[in-house]
Amino acid sequence: MAKSVKKVDKTSHLMLHRTGRKDVHKGIDVIVKGEGVRVFDQDGNSYIDLEAGGTRPVHVGYGRKELAQAGYDQMCQMAYFTPMGFANVPAVKLADRLAEITPAGIERFIFECDGSEAVETAMKLAKHYHYYRGDQGRFKIVSRRGAYHGVNGIGVRALGIVMPMRQLMEPLAPGSAFIESPYCYRCPHNLSYPACDMACARELSRIIEFEGPEQISMFIGEPIQQGFGAYKPPAEYWPLIREICDQYGILLVIDEVICGFGRTGRMFATEHFDVQPDIMTMAKGLTSGYVPLGAVGCSDQVLEPIEVLNHLHTYGNHPVACAVGLRNLEILETENLVENSEKMGRYFLDGLKTLEHHPSVGEVRGTGLWLAIDFTINKKSRASFPLENLMSIISRAKQKGILVKTMGMALEFAPPLIIKKEEIDEAVLVLDACITEEEKAMGLSK
Ligand SMILES: Cc1ncc(COP(=O)(O)O)c(C=O)c1O
Repeated sequence: MAKSVKKVDKTSHLMLHRTGRKDVHKGIDVIVKGEGVRVFDQDGNSYIDLEAGGTRPVHVGYGRKELAQAGYDQMCQMAYFTPMGFANVPAVKLADRLAEITPAGIERFIFECDGSEAVETAMKLAKHYHYYRGDQGRFKIVSRRGAYHGVNGIGVRALGIVMPMRQLMEPLAPGSAFIESPYCYRCPHNLSYPACDMACARELSRIIEFEGPEQISMFIGEPIQQGFGAYKPPAEYWPLIREICDQYGILLVIDEVICGFGRTGRMFATEHFDVQPDIMTMAKGLTSGYVPLGAVGCSDQVLEPIEVLNHLHTYGNHPVACAVGLRNLEILETENLVENSEKMGRYFLDGLKTLEHHPSVGEVRGTGLWLAIDFTINKKSRASFPLENLMSIISRAKQKGILVKTMGMALEFAPPLIIKKEEIDEAVLVLDACITEEEKAMGLSK
């Protein structure tokens, strides 16, 4: 391993994203290499990456020379040209390919640099749709508390973004309205499914009536939500949301930034439900993180009234990113990685369920290779689990060669879709040991 690489500390000129000053003072690891599902740090330590790059994009795993080659070839052929008034070959092909694999009705695509930009563009697109139809008063957006849709512009100031990231950006954008998220394990309405009659979805009608139906542009949500740890709502949730949106002429935006491209065992998580979005946002698994790329897809019905989408940025429809995206989709297909996500997801879920005997393991859940263990200090009351103990489990796991992270009160798992049984077995063993150690330290078990 490269000996010259050392940890990043306060002497470094590099600023890190969402990393505490105290952690920087202790020294931040530099990841110098990736291979399959493993990454290596500056000291040569190897980790199984159960978060596919930490932010979960690396679907095809590390070290894919095919993707490097696709980028290289496109750079040599034609590295860049404006997306305004001109097209390029990889963007045309990638849009065609996405039209084939996205849910029925999603037909037209525009490419951005990441998920946050895709969400911003989706909001703009919805506004354009209403505007050109003469419905110019529709500017409000409804999203869900506890959701996350990115860090830019209106997104961070209008959508149900997690609190620490939102606080400094407040006040919220005018026209931001929220409903609760579907999270049956700790229902925000204090109800139980199915007796709840889907109160979390029905709340959408109430907020629309309160805000004024003629002022609302769109509703946005992830089909399976990261907020509380890979939460899949009951089957009725999305059809009901669709019905309410239709009733009031509101566009339904489904955010597939994490879920898309096989993460949940289907190409898109929307496919788990009987629902058709008007607009869909995508990123992450689109290029497996090898280059930045986000996308927005919409139906012909949404695009048809729009004379011109008043939107342009330099790196829109970027040919190199689209070429890498195309090659990445080929890999997903030829290596059956969506099927592998389904199969290995079930295997991983079974493995995690063997940990349910632990007093702190409240709920184990997962769809495809997006899974979570929701922790509690009391299985009966489902009382909160302290964040510091979750963080301690994470650092124990890191010491034993496994990278995981928290989401809400859960540990979340989203490994590369190429993961094998042996790697899952190793991860479950390590997690078992770490939970045992932490429970002992907390006095939850002997
Ligand atoms: C559902 C969802 N939407 C949007 C975003 C923003 O994507 P990015 O980080 O690529 O800007 C994220 C990021 O995690 C996300 O999870």
